[in-house]
Amino acid sequence: MRLLVTGGAGFIGANFVHLTMKEYPDHDITVLDALTSAGNEDSLAAVKDEIEFVVGDICDADLVDKLVERCDVIVHFAAESHNDNSFLYPMKFAESNVIGTMQLLEAARKHDKRMHHVSTDEVYGDLELDDPVKFTPETRYQPSSYYSASKAAADHFVRAAHRQFGLAVTLSNCSNNYGPYQHVEKFIPRQITNVLSDIKPKLYGSGENVRDWIHVDDHNTAVHAIIEKGRLGETYLIGADGELNNRDVLAMILELMDKPADWFEHVSDRPGHDLRYAIDASKLRDELGWEPRYTDFRTGLAQTIGWYREREKWWTKVKEETEKRYQELGR
Ligand code: NAD
Ligand code: DAU
Repeated sequence: MRLLVTGGAGFIGANFVHLTMKEYPDHDITVLDALTSAGNEDSLAAVKDEIEFVVGDICDADLVDKLVERCDVIVHFAAESHNDNSFLYPMKFAESNVIGTMQLLEAARKHDKRMHHVSTDEVYGDLELDDPVKFTPETRYQPSSYYSASKAAADHFVRAAHRQFGLAVTLSNCSNNYGPYQHVEKFIPRQITNVLSDIKPKLYGSGENVRDWIHVDDHNTAVHAIIEKGRLGETYLIGADGELNNRDVLAMILELMDKPADWFEHVSDRPGHDLRYAIDASKLRDELGWEPRYTDFRTGLAQTIGWYREREKWWTKVKEETEKRYQELGR
């Protein structure tokens, strides 16, 4: 199978490439990535001679057409993925996430190719902290940020392409990922690399917000299960029952890194900050037989801390510019 992996130099895409090389050695991989500030060529350095790596934009219709024509399946990760950046450069979110997805759909339609669209649980908005309810594939879309609104728009285009043109698509909406190769702008790597740089970790607002953490490899084994066995036109929610509030995650990082429990700063909250996400992944588990491999968050977090400790060269070159962006935002 020849896979076109968009966003393969980003966090989840690079981990997808590594996992695929290991567990599906017969697959050929072409990565298409624009190397925005979130993309990092070094994340693919270990496999660069075994894959095709094209630096380019998913909004480039001619390039996309050429690459889609010679693949079997598009696995679409490329996106502007960070909520805080949508306060700084909002138009890029509409361009990459909506127009870019449409370019891929149109090329897939022209060449009759299968596409798996990777999306987020944020399209459903947020849940109350004290409400036992979780997101299901039937939950109403109610995005609350420019990021989630752009991902919601993309999801709608993907479903419309299936209904209107019979395009062979599947979709997945996943909760918060953690693991190696995640950009230091995101919560967990920001705090780990802050500690390693002797900067106090930063907690938004009260820190009560809950995220449903899943290891990136578990996200990617689910994506493979959907590509192999998922029903066309269907949406699968991906999650591994990992609900934790930000205060507790930070406390675990501080403890695992031998820092005092109060060695952090409260900073101003993200405007419109979603309270809680939680995934009901029973469709994925029951229909496709998927199970997560990482069932203990603390162990996965300790491994992730170890990864950042050993890969200073991978992250130090973007740390300073990332913290400058946060200074601009006051958080
Ligand atoms: P990331 O920001 O780490 O990586 C995104 C990659 O896409 C980068 O390498 C970037 O260079 C590339 N890219 C961006 N715009 C592009 C364009 N116009 N053309 C080509 N390449 C472009 O993001 P991530 O965390 O790896 O997320 C990947 C996907 O998974 C996104 O679609 C995101 O919405 C979704 N997702 C992420 C999470 C999470 O917790 N990180 C959870 C659920 C879903
Ligand atoms: O739910 C899936 C989504 O998870 C994905 O679609 C997004 O691509 C991904 O970035 C992530 O979105 P979040 O906004 O939840 O992730 P982030 O890592 O930015 O923040 C996680 C939580 O931590 C959130 O409640 C905000 C908080 N936070 C974040 C940062 C960067 C802090 O308290 N301090 C920080 O410094």
